[in-house]
Amino acid sequence: MARVAAGAPRPTEPAFSARVIEWQRLHGRNTLPWQNTRDPYRVWLSEIMLQQTQVGTVLSYYERFLQRFPDVHALGTAPLDDVLALWSGLGYYSRARNLHRCAQAVVNEHGGQFPRASAELAQLPGIGRSTAAAIAAFCFGERVAILDGNVKRVLTRVLGFEGDLAEAAQERALWAQATQLLPEEGIERYTQGLMDLGATLCLQRSPSCLLCPVQSLCVASNTQSQQRFPVKTRKLKRGKREHVWLWLQWRDRVWLVQRPPTGVWAGLWSLPEFDTAAAFEAASLGWPGEAQTLPSFKHTLTHLDWTLHPLRWTLPARTGEARVAELVRGWPSGRWFTQEAALAAGLPAPLRKLLQS
Ligand code: ADE
Repeated sequence: MARVAAGAPRPTEPAFSARVIEWQRLHGRNTLPWQNTRDPYRVWLSEIMLQQTQVGTVLSYYERFLQRFPDVHALGTAPLDDVLALWSGLGYYSRARNLHRCAQAVVNEHGGQFPRASAELAQLPGIGRSTAAAIAAFCFGERVAILDGNVKRVLTRVLGFEGDLAEAAQERALWAQATQLLPEEGIERYTQGLMDLGATLCLQRSPSCLLCPVQSLCVASNTQSQQRFPVKTRKLKRGKREHVWLWLQWRDRVWLVQRPPTGVWAGLWSLPEFDTAAAFEAASLGWPGEAQTLPSFKHTLTHLDWTLHPLRWTLPARTGEARVAELVRGWPSGRWFTQEAALAAGLPAPLRKLLQS
């Protein structure tokens, strides 16, 4: 649950928004080329360019784009290749493709006029909820919250919002709080102010709290816990892997190979692995002796669910040294171990268990 640290002042609108607005007027960025206009084409273009790119880089691209495509019609009717060529160097090219698709949608489905409501803007290609809100606030004065990465950092710190933003419910809760903090008037300057705070003072690493207009309201600053926010756990995407594990038995010995010095079970002695049963069959073509499949088991590592399919191959005791050496030639890091020597060696726990079974 999101909660506010005990004893900390809870920011309330208008105290919070009034300070942001006044600070923006005095110390914010007010002369960027996409400001001081209510042209949604210009504002939209800047917001898309600024999504993953810093202001300093965007400036020259923005001017060139506007020269080549002065309005949404020029952009929507241009060949995609021309758009991509001008975008070249900005990165994240899906933005350029969506930009082109969005311009086409505005021309073909909206008569060349951007919709005015954030909810409608958010239906267009490449325009997410926060970008839609920024355009609607800047161009049409809609009283609606933005919540991009920088603003999440500002608001979670001010509020002491401890919810995990990897969870959709927590993200929704933060949107709701962002909406509660909106000013009655001055949405344009307030929106820009939040962006400016996030980009210039409320930095990830060393925030300039002493210069911040909302410092006295800020839970994180008051509790020296700026680095705690925002809380967002990266959901580990667990990998899956399967291997055939070859237990090769000859007389009283088992063939073990030493694992590489890095990676899973680095340096331990283990069984030879095959990616698939077919790979093992190909490698063991013509081998004397017989195979016995043993029960498969799953070994869980931090990032990985590893299923091992042990297969015990017993070579006839009469097989000579030379022939055996030939069979194991493919594993230069291997050695024959008696059961006793194997159990005395560094073994992964599941192999120790298997050999004792
Ligand atoms: N980043 C995203 N939108 C921005 C804007 N309007 N001004 C400055 N930086 C931004």
